Amino acid sequence: MPEIFEARIGMIKGFIFDLDGVITDTAELHYLAWNSLAGQMSWKFDRTVNERLRGVSRMDSIRIIQQHNQAELTDDQLFKLATLKNEIYVDSLDKLSPKDYLSGALELLEKLKVQGFKIALGSASKNSQKVLHQLNALNYFDVIGDGNSVAKSKPAPDVFLFAARQLELKPEECIVYEDARAGVDAAKIGGFYTVGIGPSERVGHADLRCDSMQEATLEAVQSFFEDLFI
Ligand code: BG6
Ligand code: MG
Repeated sequence: MPEIFEARIGMIKGFIFDLDGVITDTAELHYLAWNSLAGQMSWKFDRTVNERLRGVSRMDSIRIIQQHNQAELTDDQLFKLATLKNEIYVDSLDKLSPKDYLSGALELLEKLKVQGFKIALGSASKNSQKVLHQLNALNYFDVIGDGNSVAKSKPAPDVFLFAARQLELKPEECIVYEDARAGVDAAKIGGFYTVGIGPSERVGHADLRCDSMQEATLEAVQSFFEDLFI
């Protein structure tokens, strides 16, 4: 009996991008908005706590800040405070413009489009339409999966599975770009190939890790996942 090798079929046909911290640095605007709310509430808040909010939904984020401050609040109060933070955040998006792509992100989207790859967004944010509009990026995305598309947020794989389904692709035909630990977890649970953007403490469990979007070019990805691009 000849030995049968299982072929690693899964030619890459699509790319799914997280938004905050991958396409643009809205992570900083989220930080400033939470910091402003924390100031109004006289809560402790700093960049270490903020790091725990990366990729995490709005309501999960406020629960993390609440626990950090051991604040006793009802679900209704939490919702109102998260809404207040969101108003501050959404106002700050007005100043976002096409100058605010993370370096390398726009070039990558353009190249993928020209080469005929399908492109989707897979973000936890409920403000993704406004962010993409401000960047003038809506045209690059065939599908938008975001906080409005699914009930369960990352690390649940739902938003990526939603995006792949809408692209009519299987998870193993897609590469997910993520800058958050919970995001890489979500993509891996869903069966996607992963590119982590950021330090190894955060995204070292991605298949390929790059320090920045500038490094995570199509050429870098094609050379790393060679057999998937034949
Ligand atoms: C993620 C961010 O993309 O979206 C989180 O990394 C944010 O920090 C989450 O909390 C939800 O965003 P929004 O815009 O719905 O409050
Ligand atoms: Mg992110």
